Amino acid sequence: MNRSIDRLGPRCPERLREACRYSLLGPGKRLRPVLCLMACETLGGDRRLAIPFAIALEMIHCYSLIHDDLPAMDDDDLRRGRPTSHVQFDEATAILAGDALQCLAFETLLRAELPSEKLIEACRLLSQAAGAEGMVAGQMDDLWAEKHGGDAVLLASIHARKTGAMIRASVELGVVAAGGTTKDQDIMAAYGESIGIAFQIADDLLDVESSVENTGKRTGKDQERGKLTYPAIHGIAASREKAERFVAQAEEVLSVYGSKAAPLQQLARYIIDRSH
Ligand code: IPE
Ligand code: IPE
Ligand code: MG
Ligand code: MG
Ligand code: MG
Repeated sequence: MNRSIDRLGPRCPERLREACRYSLLGPGKRLRPVLCLMACETLGGDRRLAIPFAIALEMIHCYSLIHDDLPAMDDDDLRRGRPTSHVQFDEATAILAGDALQCLAFETLLRAELPSEKLIEACRLLSQAAGAEGMVAGQMDDLWAEKHGGDAVLLASIHARKTGAMIRASVELGVVAAGGTTKDQDIMAAYGESIGIAFQIADDLLDVESSVENTGKRTGKDQERGKLTYPAIHGIAASREKAERFVAQAEEVLSVYGSKAAPLQQLARYIIDRSH
């Protein structure tokens, strides 16, 4: 990831380069890259081939975090235990760093040493997951629901798009890198969809139950802003139960891979057992 920022030529202003590096290299969990590499390995692929895909996923994710934290969106000042991009730099720089990371993601993805039809497929999966029917769509409705409210159906659809889509794409890109079949694609997509929702439920629960020391971001903000979340609609206990059910589903769908599925199954558990 560091090298992909270094590679930007002298036409990239230093301040922009540093803002991109600051967010991309911040101490995050790297869940999406890890999912991509693990999905590739589960199918017997060479994970080195998937590394550009893994980096591209983290770039899109970091761009989404920078924009999510902006005053016009969630207005947060802490991310990964450090000042958010617009606090560390300024708003315009943060917006532009997000824009730059988004473009750099697709450039990076295309560096994968794979046949061009696979690169096209990866490009399609990533752009659909990130875009106006995926993450961006979920973010739009997340903000809309802050003002206008919503029911359990809208909530599930927000979570599936704002967070689930990129998590699903993470394993799907792993399948592409491994040269998996359409059946593998369907199985991994189902796994990704389930853990994607579970992941956002866990994030909602952490916002209620955890601390800034544990999460590296402000907690208690969702209720303050009137966000449509699982705890707000279903309560804490039922949210935990639902997350648990999604994880069990995810573990089950991978059982066709036998013991090879163990790492991804354990990762599914971690998604709801995590403390940050
Ligand atoms: C935070 O994602 C935003 C959500 C989609 C809930 P992560 O919890 O994966 O954030 P990092 O990458 O570890 O900082
Ligand atoms: C953000 O969801 C999902 C993104 C697409 C970035 P949240 O707004 O709940 O994420 P956090 O809690 O700020 O990390
Ligand atoms: Mg948000
Ligand atoms: Mg947020
Ligand atoms: Mg949150």
